[in-house]
Amino acid sequence: MKNNPKWYYEEKQSGVDYLDPKIAQEYDKEHLKFRNFKEEAEQIVQALEITKHDTVLDIGCGTGGIALNLVKYCNKVICVDISREMLDVLETKAKKQNINNIETQSAGFLTYKHEGHDKVDKIVSKFALHHLPDFWKSVALLKMAEILKTGGKLYLSDLIFTFNVDDHKKSISELINRMNDAAGDSMTGETEIHIRDEFSTYDWIMEGLLEKSGFSIDYKHTEADNFVEYVCSKL
Ligand SMILES: C[S@@+](CC[C@H](N)C(=O)[O-])C[C@H]1O[C@@H](n2cnc3c(N)ncnc32)[C@H](O)[C@@H]1O
Repeated sequence: MKNNPKWYYEEKQSGVDYLDPKIAQEYDKEHLKFRNFKEEAEQIVQALEITKHDTVLDIGCGTGGIALNLVKYCNKVICVDISREMLDVLETKAKKQNINNIETQSAGFLTYKHEGHDKVDKIVSKFALHHLPDFWKSVALLKMAEILKTGGKLYLSDLIFTFNVDDHKKSISELINRMNDAAGDSMTGETEIHIRDEFSTYDWIMEGLLEKSGFSIDYKHTEADNFVEYVCSKL
């Protein structure tokens, strides 16, 4: 960004390259091997108590698996992703499904511009914040807190580690094996890239980042020592 100081982080794709049109086109097929977007969206609607009046920001929305299901329960979803290619897939699906109450912006957590909008009621971010190193996660969370209405809610879920550091080899190899069983070779390769080149962090770090950035954690759910969901309120 033009006006940022020289030390400011330049957001780029780290790890899996979601700017690659082939990866964007195949994303839903690969993820549907181990996910159910409709059920995930319905669970978020419940957890955040989303209503028909709400404007929701989905940041790092990808191909809109969650956003395009959520939008049926709210007024509007603002869909933000750094990859134009992922948003292209989202927009094509929205058109096919006759969904008009979405807006898209190709931007990162740090570069997103919330101009011309009121503060939003809810924010959702799934499997995306790990693309930023920890310090920049806190800057992104601070920005989310600024965009969110007071009392508004954030749903954050990601590959976040709850194992002890001395168990990391065992826990990560179990994760890789589980991904292989659930989704085969391509997702195994992506998980290896994720661990090696992306910035998943520990839950105790993430909780400090959330709390120092203006959120209180209302609910935490952990699965298999490497996946965590948080529901947070803006203080
Ligand atoms: C694993 S996908 C998750 C997509 C979607 N949230 C889901 O649940 O399927 C990660 C997404 O984060 C996006 N991403 C990577 N770095 C980003 C950044 N700095 N800011 C915003 N989005 C980013 C990628 O382009 C990709 O679409």
